[in-house]
Amino acid sequence: SVSDRTSVNIGLDEISQRIENNSLPTTYIEQNPHNYDEENKYSSGEYEDEAKEKNEYDFIIVGAGSAGCVLANRLSEEEQWRILLIEAGSEEPDITMVPSLYKALKGSSLDWNYSTQPEEKSCRSMKGHMCDFTRGKSMGGSSAVNTLVYMRGNRRDYDHWEEIGNYGWGYDKLLPYFRKSENNKAVEGLDTYLHGTGGPITVERYPYYDDNSFMLLESFKESNVPEIDLTAEDNIGVNIALSTSKDGRRVSENVAYIKPIRDIRKNLDIITNAFVTKLIIDHETKTVLGVTYEKGGKSYNVYAKKEVISSGGTVNSPKLLMLSGIGPREQLESLNISVVADLSVGHNLQDHVTANGFIISLSNKTATNVSSEQLLEEVQRYHDQEPKKYGPLATTNVAGTTAFIKTMYSLENAPDIQFIFEGINNIAEFYSDPQAYLMSDSFTAAFYDGLSCKPLLIKPRSRGIILLNNNDPVHGNPLIYQRFFTDKEDIDVLIEGFKFALSLEETEAFKKNGARFVRVPIKNCENHEWGSNDYFVCLLTEYTTTIYHPVGTCKMGPSSDKDAVVDPRLRVYGVKRLRVVDASVMPFIPRGNINIPTVTIAEYISDLIKSEYKQ
Ligand SMILES: Cc1cc2nc3c(=O)[nH]c(=O)nc-3n(C[C@H](O)[C@H](O)[C@H](O)COP(=O)(O)OP(=O)(O)OC[C@H]3O[C@@H](n4cnc5c(N)ncnc54)[C@H](O)[C@@H]3O)c2cc1C
Ligand SMILES: *[C@@H]1O[C@H](CO)[C@@H](O)[C@H](O)[C@H]1NC(C)=O
Ligand SMILES: *[C@@H]1O[C@H](CO)[C@@H](O)[C@H](O)[C@H]1NC(C)=O
Ligand SMILES: *[C@@H]1O[C@H](CO)[C@@H](O)[C@H](O)[C@H]1NC(C)=O
Ligand SMILES: *[C@@H]1O[C@H](CO)[C@@H](O)[C@H](O)[C@H]1NC(C)=O
Repeated sequence: SVSDRTSVNIGLDEISQRIENNSLPTTYIEQNPHNYDEENKYSSGEYEDEAKEKNEYDFIIVGAGSAGCVLANRLSEEEQWRILLIEAGSEEPDITMVPSLYKALKGSSLDWNYSTQPEEKSCRSMKGHMCDFTRGKSMGGSSAVNTLVYMRGNRRDYDHWEEIGNYGWGYDKLLPYFRKSENNKAVEGLDTYLHGTGGPITVERYPYYDDNSFMLLESFKESNVPEIDLTAEDNIGVNIALSTSKDGRRVSENVAYIKPIRDIRKNLDIITNAFVTKLIIDHETKTVLGVTYEKGGKSYNVYAKKEVISSGGTVNSPKLLMLSGIGPREQLESLNISVVADLSVGHNLQDHVTANGFIISLSNKTATNVSSEQLLEEVQRYHDQEPKKYGPLATTNVAGTTAFIKTMYSLENAPDIQFIFEGINNIAEFYSDPQAYLMSDSFTAAFYDGLSCKPLLIKPRSRGIILLNNNDPVHGNPLIYQRFFTDKEDIDVLIEGFKFALSLEETEAFKKNGARFVRVPIKNCENHEWGSNDYFVCLLTEYTTTIYHPVGTCKMGPSSDKDAVVDPRLRVYGVKRLRVVDASVMPFIPRGNINIPTVTIAEYISDLIKSEYKQ
C-alpha cells in the first residue's frame, strides 16, 4: 500500500514521565513542520514505483481532517472510483485518545503552529501581540486535537445559509445528514427525530464528570436557563454537552471514518507526511488536473480524472487556492502568481471570540487539584483500565458544561452567547504571569483549583482575512488577521455575557460550594475597576482568545454574491473540477461548536457528488 504507518506511539508511561518532569506538553513527537529533512524511507525506489503506477485517481482529497476523512470514506463506497487522500501530518498518535489531555496537543507537532498577526484591538498582552491559532495536523486534522464537544448550532444558522441563496442548505435538508454521522449512546439518542444511532461517530457522555461540572449546570438552571438537549434546533439552554468519544477515548473523524476501512477498501489510498503545494491547472481551459505534493524532500505530481477536493481547512484551503492562482488578483499579482480566477479567497474569516482571565476560585469543596504523586496514580489507573476508560482522565470535565443564552442584542429567537469553562490548574500561578501561564498551559483538564469562564460571541459581526506569507508563500505561515472587535457591537454583546456570568455567583450552587470570582484586576488591566464595562473591554483586547472555530475563507454563495468562492455545490467558481469541502465554505459561522457542522457538510456533499456522477 502507498500509505505509510510511521505512527508515533506515545504510551501512557511516557506521559507519566512527562508529567513527572513537569514537561507534559510538546516534545513527544517529531517537531518538524514539513518533514523536509526527514530521512525518509518512502522516497525509496519501492514507493516511487508504486506512486508512478498509481498516479491517477478519480478523486484526490487534500487533507485528512474532519471533512477529508468523511469524504474519503463516503466516496470510496463507490467501488469503481479510486480515491487518494493526502495528509500533511503524521498518523494520529495514541496520546490524542485521552480526553483530559487535549490542551497538551496545542503547539505540538500535531499543530500547524500558526499565530495571528499583531493587531490594535486584540491579543495585546500576548507575546508580540500575537495569539496562537491551533490547527490540527495529522490524520483526523483538528478533530484529533479538539475538545470533543458534540454540537450542531441553531436551525436559524442553516436556514439563513439557504435564505442568502444557497439552495439545499436549510436545516430540514441537513438534519438527515446530522443523523447519518451519529451513533448516539446517550439518553438523547432515544429521540430519533434529532439523533442517529447507526453512524460512524460514537457520541456519549463521559463516564465521569467532577462536582464542578454539576455545579455549573445547577447554577445556570437556577438562573432560568433551561436544561435541554443542546443539539435541538432551538439551542437556548444548558447541559453537559455530548462528546465525540467512546468509553472515555476520543473519536476523531480518523477513528470514526478511516480506521474501520483502512486497508480493507482497495480503492482508497492514503499518503501521510505529504504536503500539497499546488494544484496542477491547465490555464487555457481552467481545468484542475491534479496536485503537486512534497514528501521526504521530493516533489510528486498526481492526477485526478474527476476532481480534486480541497479539505485543508479554513487556513490551508485558501492558501492552496491562492498558491495555485485562485484568489484576489491584486494579492496574487504582487507575488507574481499568475491569476486563474479572481475570487475573494481568504476573506470573510469569522471565529467565536472571547477572553482569558475571568477566573472563578474554588473552595476545597470542589477544587480538584492534586499532588503530583496522586496525578501519577491517576495516570497509572487510566492506563490499566481496559476495555473501558473511566475516571478523571477519561473526560474533559468542565469543558463539557456549556450554556447558550440570548442577550438583548439578539434580534432573532436564537442565542448570541455561549458559555464555556476550563480548569485553571493553579490560580496563583496564572495571576503572577498570565502570559507565561497561557503560553505553557498544557495541564490535564482533570485537576485544578479555579475555573476560567469564557463567554463566546457566537454571532460575530467583525470579519478577518488570511493572506499568503509574502516572504515564503509556499512554506511560510499565512498571515492571519482576525480583525476582532472592528465592529463595536461585538464588544457590547460580550459585555452582556460577562455580566450574566457574574450573576452566577449569586446562585445557591455557587454559594454552597464557596465558588466566587477572583475580584482582582489582572496584569495590564489594573487601571480599570474589576467588573466594570471598561474592565471587560480590557480583558477582551488584552487577553483575547477563541476556541479555534475559524470558518468562512472560501465562502459559499450564489453566483450573484461577489464574495463567493464556491457555489452551493461547493464547486470553485471560474475553474473546472475543483471543490472545497471543509469549514472554510461556511458563509456565516453557526451558533455552536463547528466540528459536527463540518462533518455534516462533507456527508451532504458526498451524497451530492455521487448523484451528480450517476446522472
Ligand atoms: C484546539 C481546538 C479545539 C476545538 N474544539 C472543538 C470542539 O470541542 N467541538 C467542535 O465541534 N469543534 C471544535 N474545534 C473545531 C473543529 O475541530 C474544527 O472546526 C474542524 O475539525 C475543522 O475541520 P476541517 O475539515 O475544516 O479542517 P481540519 O480538521 O483542520 O483538517 C484539515 C486537514 O488538512 C491537512 N492539510 C492542510 N493543508 C494541507 C496540504 N497543503 N497538504 C496536505 N494536507 C493538508 C491538515 O493537516 C489537516 O489534517 C476545535 C478546534 C481546535 C483546533
Ligand atoms: C511554534 O511557533 C513558535 C513561534 O511562533 C515557536 O517558538 C515554537 O517553537 C513553534 N513550535 C513548534 C512545535 O514548531
Ligand atoms: C515579480 O517579477 C518581477 C519581474 O520578473 C520582479 O521584478 C519582482 O521582483 C517579482 N516579485 C516577486 C515578489 O517575486
Ligand atoms: C476546607 O476549608 C475550610 C475553610 O477554609 C476549613 O475549615 C476546612 O478544614 C477545610 N477542609 C479540608 C478537608 O481541608
Ligand atoms: C490545591 O489548591 C489550593 C489553593 O491553591 C491549595 O491551598 C492546596 O494546597 C492545593 N492542594 C493540593 C493537593 O495541591
